[in-house]
Amino acid sequence: MTSTQEPLKRVLVTGGAGYIGSHVVFALQETRKYKVISIDNHHNSHPKALTRVSQIAKSNLPPDATEQDKESAEIDAVTADLTKEAEVRAVFEKYGKGGIWGVVHIAAYKAVGESTEIPLTYYQNNVGATVQLLQLMSEFECTRFVYSSSATVYGTPPKIPIPETTRLQADSPYGKSKVMCEQIIQDLTAAEPQRWRAISLRYFNPAGAHPSGLIGEEPRGRPGNLFPLLAHMAVGRVNPDLKVFGSDYPTPDGTCVRDYIHVLDLARGHLLALNALAEDSPIFASLAEDAPKIKAYNLGKGKGMSVLQIIEAMRKATGFDYKYEIVGRRRGDVPDLTADPALAEKELGFKAPHSLEEMCRDLWNWQTKNPKGYDDE
Ligand code: WQD
Repeated sequence: MTSTQEPLKRVLVTGGAGYIGSHVVFALQETRKYKVISIDNHHNSHPKALTRVSQIAKSNLPPDATEQDKESAEIDAVTADLTKEAEVRAVFEKYGKGGIWGVVHIAAYKAVGESTEIPLTYYQNNVGATVQLLQLMSEFECTRFVYSSSATVYGTPPKIPIPETTRLQADSPYGKSKVMCEQIIQDLTAAEPQRWRAISLRYFNPAGAHPSGLIGEEPRGRPGNLFPLLAHMAVGRVNPDLKVFGSDYPTPDGTCVRDYIHVLDLARGHLLALNALAEDSPIFASLAEDAPKIKAYNLGKGKGMSVLQIIEAMRKATGFDYKYEIVGRRRGDVPDLTADPALAEKELGFKAPHSLEEMCRDLWNWQTKNPKGYDDE
């Protein structure tokens, strides 16, 4: 480390090998200011993702990279289950009290429909594990927390676009687990306002991939989400029997509207949030000493696109001639989830410049370079 360089800040990313997690790790490593530790049980991710992320970081090192720069391109990748206290404790013990600067907590089960079938599994994994993580953070003097929340906390919102002040009213155990965790963090920061600083990030619909084609979304089995499903169909991985779940919604073309955001922009939102947890950050400056240091921000483009518009955009990007059948509505779907991103733009300097065409292009690039995902080689 040259004398002018600040020491690396260690950041633990849970779910670091996942679709969002791997892109967040990329965004942190790009700054060469953080040393990333990842905990992932690979329930819905592949260990190879982190090898590839580190490969991207190493290839981006400048010719005059210092030893510390090189160190920032390495990842301490731990395979562990967040519900197993001993496994998580071991990571904190390895770095000691104060050894980890902050945590970005992304790991969670996230299938809305599945959560209605196995609610206890969702509450244990999404809520229980978060409480346990926060307890260990407190014990090891690590009190900066970025939490991966979701637009599903809004349920069916009363107005579109959705501001953060909208009441939280989730409909599924998945969405409720996100609301519960936001409330838990609220209570923790209220109990210890001088110690904790936290930000909840409410994701809208991430799509796309890093333009290198080295990392991307790799759901296990047949994808439930629209974008990866369309990519798998076009590359021949799944049967192209595309069903559009409902065309009788109160939307321009009758199909559901969502706010799709490039995963690179979403990942950068995490970096901005983490930077905002630094001591001298302005986002908490206006708060009283004893006020809870917690904020929630939407991460979306503020632009809604319908199912049919996404199918058309992917038809253009892939050249695949999708044939779809309109069927009944999917349980748990809401007509429109479009963000009002103004607060994140104002307070975090957040932007989501990537277009729908770039999301489709980058997703297709990932899929064609990895027709079978990470198991390709
Ligand atoms: C989008 C639209 C479907 C598949 C996802 C995650 C959720 C949360 C938000 C993290 C819907 C329609 C889909 C298909 C279709 N992420 N569709 N046919 O439902 O917004 O939720 O993002 O917090 O956990 O699941 O995304 O891609 O599943 O669906 O018509 O075969 O596409 O009905 O209207 P969704 P999605």
